[in-house]
Amino acid sequence: MSAEAQNIIEESFKRLIKTYNPQPVVMERGEGAYAYDTDGKKYLDFACGIAVASLGHAHPKILKTLNDQASKMMTCQASYATKPKFECAKFLVDNSCFDLVYFSNSGTESVEAALKLARKWAYDKKGEGHSEIIAFRNSFHGRTYGAASVTEKRMSQPFFDPYLPDVQFATFNDIESVKALISKKTAAVIIEPVQGEGGLTPATPKFLKDLRALCDEHDAALIFDEVQAGMGRLGTFMAYEAFADEDGAVVEPDIGAWAKGMGGGFPVGCMMAKTEFGDALVPGTHGTTYGGNPLACAVALSVMQEINQPAFLENANKVGKFFMEGLANLQRESNKITDIRGMGLMIGVDSTIDIKTLIPALQKNGLLTTQAGKGTLRLTPPLILKQDQAQEALDILAKTLKEEG
Ligand SMILES: Cc1ncc(COP(=O)(O)O)c(C=O)c1O
Repeated sequence: MSAEAQNIIEESFKRLIKTYNPQPVVMERGEGAYAYDTDGKKYLDFACGIAVASLGHAHPKILKTLNDQASKMMTCQASYATKPKFECAKFLVDNSCFDLVYFSNSGTESVEAALKLARKWAYDKKGEGHSEIIAFRNSFHGRTYGAASVTEKRMSQPFFDPYLPDVQFATFNDIESVKALISKKTAAVIIEPVQGEGGLTPATPKFLKDLRALCDEHDAALIFDEVQAGMGRLGTFMAYEAFADEDGAVVEPDIGAWAKGMGGGFPVGCMMAKTEFGDALVPGTHGTTYGGNPLACAVALSVMQEINQPAFLENANKVGKFFMEGLANLQRESNKITDIRGMGLMIGVDSTIDIKTLIPALQKNGLLTTQAGKGTLRLTPPLILKQDQAQEALDILAKTLKEEG
């Protein structure tokens, strides 16, 4: 590493609150599926800011939109309508099962809005004392207090107590565990259709269907947190669309949360709801300074227009399948892969190699990845990934598994 890079790392971490462990390289720029550090080393980026750079780096369409909209107007008070906000909300409503949109700036804010909305809806509909929320073990919904309260990690972080009351945790993909907790007092059930941070575990279509029926039976809102899995990552525009049963029927949530891939790198998110639920929030109950700003909405719209095209989604599906097959081959050839999970381009690999060794070794060999769960290798490449780039990643994985064995 160059002396300059070393200095940037050391001096910046002296000045930063240490919520993250420092990486041994300084990132400088990106192009498509590749990222480059300040020493000019090239990496295939299968981290993508953790499922954020959905169109890869420096996508020309995003750059043009940023430039055009920034030179017109970046911000305006949230109560004003703007053309980008209207067009972005219209696109979301036209291309989902939802009727109403609330714009945010991050995943945790989208979840926060979803929880407040669900509790207000339950209060209006069922009266006081119907505030219970059911979440799942191994869940992750964010780091602000509401979102952290429905994230199972709270159990191991008592130093932040007290969290939000009336939250209970059921077991993912186990409907009996939800039945044991749900009642008329339940305001909402919140679930990630594919648990991301928890270790890339997809829900089964049957579990989601049973969950829908239980929520209906007990008048509880069903919230899907699609922050990581949504916006094309599973090969469908909305994550819930990827869980069709044998008859092609999908489970529609009442409320959902998005961020990450929605802005392709620009910080933007949203919460969406069906009318009956969305109407519960009225002026004075919730809001945001930046949410729905013209720049974020213009960028999100161009990203989503790009993603929600049959050829684009088909490529994500095709390359995802190719990559999964390649991983299965690797598993057969090497005894070092113990499990492969995930859907589309949201993939987790368990291996016999300590994740704390594996991720730096992959980075050294030119592949950026992240950790999920206790020791799962998480692969969330850009959705523009080409087959030869998927093969390149497989080759780096094979080489690294061999070297680290
Ligand atoms: C499923 C899920 N929900 C919420 C969040 C929080 O998003 P953010 O980090 O943008 O606040 C994340 C982030 O990893 C996530 O994966």
